[in-house]
Amino acid sequence: MYDIPFLDVPPLQSAAGTVTLPGSKSISNRVLLLAALSEGRTTVHDLLDSDDTRVMLAALRELGCGVEPQADGTLAITGLGGALPRQSANLFLGNAGTAMRPLCAALSLLAAQHGGQFELRGVPRMHERPIGDLVDALRQLGCPIDYLGNAGFPPLRLGHGQPATLQLDQPIRVRGDVSSQFLTALLLALPLVATKNVVIDVVGELISKPYIDITLKLLAQFGVAVQRDGWQRFTIPAGSRYRSPGDVFVEGDASSASYFIALGAIASTSGVTVQGVGLASIQGDIRFVEAAQAMGAHITGGPNHLVIQRGAWPLKAIDLDCNHIPDAAMTLAVMALYADGTTTLRNIASWRVKETDRIAAMATELRKLGATVEEGPDFIRVEPLPAHGWRPASIHTYDDHRVAMCFSLAAFNPACLPVRIEDPKCVAKTFPDYFETLFEVVAPVAHEVPVICIDGPTASGKGTLGAAVAQRLGYHLLDSGALYRLVGLAADKAGLSTRSEDLADPTLARQLGALAGSMAVRFDGQGIWLDGENVSDAVRSEAAGMAASRVSALPSVRQALLALQHGFQRAPGLVADGRDMGTVIFPAAPMKIFLTASAAQRAERRHKQLISKGISAKIDSLLADLEARDRQDSTRASAPLKPAEDALLLDNSALDVDQSVHQVLVWWQDKRPF
Ligand code: DC
Repeated sequence: MYDIPFLDVPPLQSAAGTVTLPGSKSISNRVLLLAALSEGRTTVHDLLDSDDTRVMLAALRELGCGVEPQADGTLAITGLGGALPRQSANLFLGNAGTAMRPLCAALSLLAAQHGGQFELRGVPRMHERPIGDLVDALRQLGCPIDYLGNAGFPPLRLGHGQPATLQLDQPIRVRGDVSSQFLTALLLALPLVATKNVVIDVVGELISKPYIDITLKLLAQFGVAVQRDGWQRFTIPAGSRYRSPGDVFVEGDASSASYFIALGAIASTSGVTVQGVGLASIQGDIRFVEAAQAMGAHITGGPNHLVIQRGAWPLKAIDLDCNHIPDAAMTLAVMALYADGTTTLRNIASWRVKETDRIAAMATELRKLGATVEEGPDFIRVEPLPAHGWRPASIHTYDDHRVAMCFSLAAFNPACLPVRIEDPKCVAKTFPDYFETLFEVVAPVAHEVPVICIDGPTASGKGTLGAAVAQRLGYHLLDSGALYRLVGLAADKAGLSTRSEDLADPTLARQLGALAGSMAVRFDGQGIWLDGENVSDAVRSEAAGMAASRVSALPSVRQALLALQHGFQRAPGLVADGRDMGTVIFPAAPMKIFLTASAAQRAERRHKQLISKGISAKIDSLLADLEARDRQDSTRASAPLKPAEDALLLDNSALDVDQSVHQVLVWWQDKRPF
């Protein structure tokens, strides 16, 4: 997840490959509750890992359910089977409506049956989200429920600690025009008490019917066949009882699929494969497939996967009633920029009351890109953008995951402009690794992945500065010095000399070059790996540094490391530190920094660093080593250390790390088009 203020998506050209979608949030929390209410053990596959599922799991543990993560990544839930091992509990449910509403209903009924008592609460925002219609329905049944704060809102106390008689003879009336989650909660809970037919009558026009459909389909998987008369009356047959199906597979999120369906439609000749959701999906948003086809996409697939390829290009403009796919339809608004005419998305009034006013948000941000957009109370109309019409834009995301995700698709603009996405971590609501997943399957426009080069002498602080800048921008990091240090280590292991007097031998030079070209190196969160061994500490030693300095003078070694270094230039961008990043490896880089500090300063810093690691060292000999390496690195014939002609000089003798980072970010911002 990119926990940074903004993420610059570089201009993108094409897409290919396979993505696996995270599990659907709606399905995940329903499945967890159903497994918890069933008898026996349910193995849940592909569960979404997000804030909302975590609070649900914590609550289920608290209630006495078995929750055991398995080695294969699945989760085994041992259900309550109608029993109530804990008669009371205080449950914290964060901001998860998909946990609060169904648990309220299920625990109210269990408390009434068994004489339990439960308190449900959440974050302050949760205490502003209405639940009165559900409480009213449960009270009609005879469930004792108290509001512990404001009437109509959580926190709640369910049950009085004594069994209460439930009145199941009359139909239970619940409003359906505010949130379909109240009806879902009742449908999930009432099978627990269906000693006779239990009837639910919906008052008002039911909204979000596809979500009720998901509930009914999952109930059926767990052995309960609800009868439905239109969308007004639902009957849970007498004797209904939850039975674990054994294994349950959580579908990928169909709304999340829309970004990758669009990706295929816009930019893939060889096809983008989406795993986890397919043509047999039970989610309403799967009908986005039809909308994408109408715009020209070629889509095939199976029960659990889709393959999307570009068909018509430019895309075909559409005029569509989007009431059945409100969330996924936002993606169509961005696809409309690549269409052959005006696209109108109608019947989307619900956009105005989602995470943000989505009609206003989409119109504002599309206009920033240069588009002509008309918005109405319940529609949006988008004109396509000609190549010369695109503007560089910093997209505000309104803490709305879908705004962030759908605008990443603007990076395919023919003007080859990058797109800035503000607050990219808002995608965590449903797809924490959205951008990482996107970057896995897209090819940026050649040479348009930005590289920031930071060159300078040893101990100038390049590594620290480079890592901090990379972290702040969400860019990859290349510590090229480590590669030369690795050659030194690998030579040692292979029994090859790196002594100065031996390096003139052409056979040894060739052998070292071959070794450098065949090293199996890996950089990850844990450190630096050489041939499967963690060598993070070993590469940092003074001896490794000196050996690196010597072998790095060999053209054969430098040549062998070229392709490896170029391979680091991947979306969204790269910060590369070393000696010749700006002069030799990435000469076209848009920004080059040459970092210096006095030799005395650098020796002092290195000294502090070693002491803090418990390694004793003398400043004098460190200074002598430094000066020797400076000489060696800057006088060698092959790629000597020197500032690139267009490098910005940064003397950090009197700056702390934060000040240096700030300076580099200010310079970088000056070079960006936003
Ligand atoms: O930055 P460092 O101290 O980790 O680098 C170790 C040695 O590697 C350095 O003395 C010179 C060499 N080097 C190089 O020649 N070219 C680079 N791009 C990086 C390092």
